[in-house]
Amino acid sequence: MHPVPQPTPDATLFSIRLADADDIAAIDWLDTFGGSPHRNLSRYMTQYFGSVDPSIHERNLIYLAELRPDAAGELPYRAIGKVELLLAPAGTPSEVGYIKRVVVHPAWRKHHVAQAILRHVIAAAPDLGVQYLDLHVWEGNAPAVRLYEALGFAERHRELYLRLDLDTPAKDGALSPLERIVAHDTPTS
Ligand SMILES: CC(C)(COP(=O)(O)OP(=O)(O)OC[C@H]1O[C@@H](n2cnc3c(N)ncnc32)[C@H](O)[C@@H]1OP(=O)(O)O)[C@@H](O)C(=O)NCCC(=O)NCCS
Repeated sequence: MHPVPQPTPDATLFSIRLADADDIAAIDWLDTFGGSPHRNLSRYMTQYFGSVDPSIHERNLIYLAELRPDAAGELPYRAIGKVELLLAPAGTPSEVGYIKRVVVHPAWRKHHVAQAILRHVIAAAPDLGVQYLDLHVWEGNAPAVRLYEALGFAERHRELYLRLDLDTPAKDGALSPLERIVAHDTPTS
């Protein structure tokens, strides 16, 4: 086992728990503070809370850091941070759990909120049958990289993030990517 940092005094201001359907608005709100390029993609959050057949759908467990009632202050929700854990459908072994959408409200960053939630997930993972926890992070996201490395996550490999811009203007008479696809798929006779 690798050493996992111990909780700090700030951790007494909040507790960690699994989200349920009543937390959907708070989760959506927290996602607006995330750094993911996909954060604006809508998702059917209700599916995560038992509305689909669990034997054929991935399980997405959402762990929240929730402020004590007297510590919530002006924020609209008591949830100030979250970590999502993607697992295989129930009944299918999940040797690898995938961590995603890690976000802490800006007012609560650098208070060890993310670290506390991740420590909770790491402790819960073996009971879920998980042996490895994987995640992706942009190497320029120094706070996140340091957070993960401090918890013992180590680089496995680097990946390319690719994008096709369908609006790229054609150069020198060449076809744009979209025109190329259409030209390729259009019958000539
Ligand atoms: C990345 C993020 C989740 C960190 O949350 P956080 O609660 O502020 O992090 P923690 O306070 O638990 O930090 C734990 C460790 O991470 C590192 N860290 C966190 N924020 C840091 C910062 N701004 N600069 C440098 N190191 C930082 C430190 O090593 C810190 O431990 P230390 O204070 O004992 O040195 C938060 O900044 C965030 O929500 N960012 C936007 C969304 C995002 O980028 N998510 C990750 C996508 S992969």
